[in-house]
Amino acid sequence: MDYQEIIEEVYSEVLAMPIEGKLADYIPELASVNPNYFGVCLVDKHGNIAECGDSNVPFSIQSISKVQTLVMAYSKMGVDLWKRVNVEPSGNPFNNLAQLEYENGIPRNPFINPGALVITDSIMSLYDDAKSEIKQFISNMSGGDPVVVNPKVKQSELECSSRNRASAYLLKSYKNLTHSVDDLLDVYTDHCAIEMDCRQLAKSFLYLTNNGHCNYNNTRVLDKGLTKRINALMLTCGFYDEAGEFAFRVGLAGKSGVGGGVIAVLPGEFSVAVYTPPLNPKGNPRKALYFLELLTTKLGISLF
Ligand code: DON
Repeated sequence: MDYQEIIEEVYSEVLAMPIEGKLADYIPELASVNPNYFGVCLVDKHGNIAECGDSNVPFSIQSISKVQTLVMAYSKMGVDLWKRVNVEPSGNPFNNLAQLEYENGIPRNPFINPGALVITDSIMSLYDDAKSEIKQFISNMSGGDPVVVNPKVKQSELECSSRNRASAYLLKSYKNLTHSVDDLLDVYTDHCAIEMDCRQLAKSFLYLTNNGHCNYNNTRVLDKGLTKRINALMLTCGFYDEAGEFAFRVGLAGKSGVGGGVIAVLPGEFSVAVYTPPLNPKGNPRKALYFLELLTTKLGISLF
């Protein structure tokens, strides 16, 4: 199937919609991006690329990096990982603290901030230089494209990370954090501040559509069963307290980031990255959700 035509059709329809949103100003540096950026790239199972708009503009991947860190930790630790983090949708915002307290320091899932902090902590125990390993892993998944961190975004988040610090201290009090809060925040904000464009991002998730096999470097990243579980977590938890709505409207496994990016995968078919900075009140890129809804509607295919 040639996706270029349908991508262009959906793109122009969504471009014409008066969709409003708000930039993620709790990380001040993210509020300075051009809100009109709109890029899309779809990579099909054969590696064919269909793209439109600002698909080559790099953006802050933020929480999308939590999928890659989860894959790194899960592929090494297996089921032991689930002693420290649960696999249930949280029904709460990504930075909610109360749930962590009343559930005794075990985060609901790996994609809310406390869960992702636990995953980053696990990676720090697995590797001496976790920051480089994460970048290398993501680069390998997209076939060797260099992966870089935007130091201004990292610094900006570090200066405003009171809630993540609070989560980390709470995790520490429940003995669910091995490293120091400062070291943890350094690695976590580093991987959140990675910048990629839609093309690189879509390529780097293609292995999740291919039973865990990365075509770009011909390696098996995850076995079939683990791949299924990562995709299940993206479907049930990838959009926080909007995960149900994403499944309902779009029907793909996906993950959003407050930098304006969304990645979505349809196993056996394609991965698709969309970049549109303005967010809805749940912290998900509004136009990207419409784009993906219209795409699966017009294609007549989804996970269901
Ligand atoms: O920790 C944070 O708040 C950010 N680095 C990432 C949050 C995020 O991307 C939520 N996703 N929509």
